[in-house]
Amino acid sequence: MVGCYGRVNSVVFLLFLCFCDRIAAQRFLSVSGQNLTLNGDKVFMSGMNQAWYIYANDFGNGRYNASRPEFLKAMDEIHESGGNSVRVWVHVQGENTPMFNSSGYVTGLDPYIIGDMTDYVRQAQSRNILVNFCLWSCAILQTGSHLEGLLYEDEKLFSYINNALKPMVGALKNERGLGIWEIMNEPAGCIEIGMKTEEKCYDTTTLYPWEGADWTKKHIPLERMLRFLSLQADAIHSADPKALVTTGSWTYRTITDQLNRRNFYSDECLRLASGGLPGAYFDLYQIHTYQTLFIYLPHDPFKVSASVYNVSKPLIIGEFSQNQGGGMTSPEQFTWAYEHGYSGAWSWDALGSGQAADDVPTQERGMGSIKDRNDQSKGGRVNITINDGYTNRDPEGFIDIRDIFWIILNFLGAFNVFLTSVVKTLL
Ligand SMILES: *[C@@H]1O[C@H](CO)[C@@H](O)[C@H](O)[C@H]1NC(C)=O
Ligand SMILES: *[C@@H]1O[C@H](CO)[C@@H](O)[C@H](O)[C@H]1NC(C)=O
Ligand SMILES: *[C@@H]1O[C@H](CO)[C@@H](O)[C@H](O)[C@H]1NC(C)=O
Ligand SMILES: *[C@@H]1O[C@H](CO)[C@@H](O)[C@H](O)[C@H]1NC(C)=O
Ligand SMILES: *[C@@H]1O[C@H](CO)[C@@H](O)[C@H](O)[C@H]1NC(C)=O
Repeated sequence: MVGCYGRVNSVVFLLFLCFCDRIAAQRFLSVSGQNLTLNGDKVFMSGMNQAWYIYANDFGNGRYNASRPEFLKAMDEIHESGGNSVRVWVHVQGENTPMFNSSGYVTGLDPYIIGDMTDYVRQAQSRNILVNFCLWSCAILQTGSHLEGLLYEDEKLFSYINNALKPMVGALKNERGLGIWEIMNEPAGCIEIGMKTEEKCYDTTTLYPWEGADWTKKHIPLERMLRFLSLQADAIHSADPKALVTTGSWTYRTITDQLNRRNFYSDECLRLASGGLPGAYFDLYQIHTYQTLFIYLPHDPFKVSASVYNVSKPLIIGEFSQNQGGGMTSPEQFTWAYEHGYSGAWSWDALGSGQAADDVPTQERGMGSIKDRNDQSKGGRVNITINDGYTNRDPEGFIDIRDIFWIILNFLGAFNVFLTSVVKTLL
């Protein structure tokens, strides 16, 4: 009898725990092995790159109002074609934000940027869209840019981390529309290739000149780049332990140990570059792919399954287009990613400008081709729900009334276990 009572109570408690955990933790995008998960389902990120409206001047310093109507239009397009996510750029090279003093140190955030980013993620949430904020970009790196200073000098990097990054991440951590922090777009645009170093984590001999990395000709040592990425990854994880962090890799060549390549962003190498910080790792990987001449090369992501790269984390194809797609259509690309082990696909881009980009109707056909899919043995759920009425917990401490309900249930569950052990002890 007693044993039975104990078992029943434990089961009830476990149910409470599972339920609470499911409701609370799973309201935010999470990682489970190689899968992205949300609300207890495996999910697939399907969407467009917004990238920017006014390059490097969309958030902060009173600029957001000019970009906002275009941003909302793109979100509507994503939502109406059955997409669930958007990738947008924040500081780029530090042209507009954060605030720097004349020696290149970050003094803080301007009074608008947090409000702008909060508005952006809430607008996204209301359309069941998750946001990938991309902070920096090495696709263009000008000499003397603010970004260059942060890449070369620890003291400047720390001024960014303490005065801007941590406050920004802290301010946004309760927003359910926030999906992923991407520290930098295409670090390979500015790192020195063909460098043989004693420490294998900083070796770049797995990249060859004809592949085109370091196109900015800035020759930044990988060690400095990993310092930049790893310290920010740790800062984000410490300001918000559930946050997902990544970087947008130019191709698959820097995220795999297969195919005679080396994963530059392994946990081990990020940890090393940070000086051993516990939060210096990525939660997932993101790679870009465009055709070479008129074709995809044999190991490009739309030619192989994600398993070929053998990475232990989710892998999103974060930039691609039909226009530079080796003859594949946008629906074929989205469907390939969905069915071949990837965790997401973001086409380039909402402005539809530039020779690599698709126009929006093409991308709508792409997103539309996998809308409503929910095959848990493939990419998972696409039509996610994050606007279900659970408000974001206010940073000032306000708790949603339904959270209180779950806390009480949780407490009752714990009390149940306590009772069980008392009964067990007595008998
Ligand atoms: C942006 O627009 C809102 C609403 O019209 C207005 O209240 C606000 O002052 C504007 N912000 C700036 C920086 O112009
Ligand atoms: C910029 O900030 C740094 C760090 O606080 C400080 O050492 C430097 O003197 C400042 N430069 C100027 C021009 O104020
Ligand atoms: C794939 O990666 C795992 C470690 O994550 C490793 O144990 C395994 O050997 C790798 N597979 C191949 C084929 O290299
Ligand atoms: C998502 O799509 C599935 C499959 O078509 C459908 O059954 C489900 O109702 C949709 N869910 C939402 C939240 O729209
Ligand atoms: C990830 O999803 C696959 C199905 O695509 C499933 O077999 C696997 O168990 C999941 N892994 C984890 C750790 O949830």
